[in-house]
Amino acid sequence: MSINILAIESSCDETSASVISNGKVLDNIIVTQKIHEQYGGVVPELASRAHQQQIVPVVHNALDKAKISLKDLNAIAFTQGPGLLGALLVGSSFAKSLALGLDIPLIAVNHMQAHILAHFIEDPAPSFPFLCLTVSGGHTQIVRITDHLTMTVLGQTKDDAVGEAFDKCAKLMGLKYPGGPLIDLYAKSGNSDKFNFSKSSMPALDYSFSGIKTSFLYFIQNQSQKNENFVEQNINDLSASIQKHLIDMLLEKLILASNQEGIKEIAIAGGVSANSGLRLALSETAKRENWNIYIPKFEYCTDNAAMIAITAHYKYLHKNFAKLNTTAQPRMTI
Ligand code: KG4
Ligand code: ZN
Repeated sequence: MSINILAIESSCDETSASVISNGKVLDNIIVTQKIHEQYGGVVPELASRAHQQQIVPVVHNALDKAKISLKDLNAIAFTQGPGLLGALLVGSSFAKSLALGLDIPLIAVNHMQAHILAHFIEDPAPSFPFLCLTVSGGHTQIVRITDHLTMTVLGQTKDDAVGEAFDKCAKLMGLKYPGGPLIDLYAKSGNSDKFNFSKSSMPALDYSFSGIKTSFLYFIQNQSQKNENFVEQNINDLSASIQKHLIDMLLEKLILASNQEGIKEIAIAGGVSANSGLRLALSETAKRENWNIYIPKFEYCTDNAAMIAITAHYKYLHKNFAKLNTTAQPRMTI
């Protein structure tokens, strides 16, 4: 018998649906909400409204493209958390209603676990145990993965996530939201050694990114007082320098974690893993440290339902089903 699962992701500003059949992802429809650009960040209420508008067409599209009809589905999966409550409620209510109507199991998926399991969508997949640096707009974590559904957080940010640091520094340079990909773009033509910023230190495998945003702000204010066109004239070097600073911070702790755990299977996941500087620096570190590294395809880095689908597949195999009264969990942890 086939196992066909429809998965829905709606934790932030992407409405996404994916169909997976026997562990093979058939499609991954993603609609990114553009409305937030003008506000310089995601506006939760507007995100929920946009999910409301998009969820039916996105699900239809996913089923059509996969050539799977509702009656062929064996389970419905949804992102339970972490994420914005109103946004999560749209996906979870939709999934629950569909599972109830079709009388099939419901599967609740942790968004952060799903970012990591995105590595199992296509070969080669990491071998267990492996470490994953999960870097997104809301999280920065080093996780040890023992098997598909057993994960331990070894270290994490105590304040801002690294994606937030990218976006906030971009905003300080007048770039539109989300600024992470724009910093990546400008950094390609910049000198990463041009400007230096002080590093904040955190114990063990934890991170802190709130200090860097403040030093970046003061640095820009100071320089702009001397030359009002400072940012425009130095956008490439500023982007390259701040990007290198953030990447160095990330990799320093990842090397510590690898040594501490004696693990050389290393993966990255989450929106910031799309960053080309991070991908390159990770490859260089891997050569020095003798790591096997795993970097997801771009489409599986940022939020998407294919990662929810693959996680749901493993949960289905373990008959790990959710009750219909399962609630959305905005602050869900691994
Ligand atoms: O995983 P994700 O799509 O959503 C969350 O769960 O947060 O991550 C979004 C974050 C944003 O902060 C965005 O700026 C960042 O990922 N991002 C990047 C790049 N692409 C996305 N940051 C730096 N360079 C990129 N190329
Ligand atoms: Zn995410």
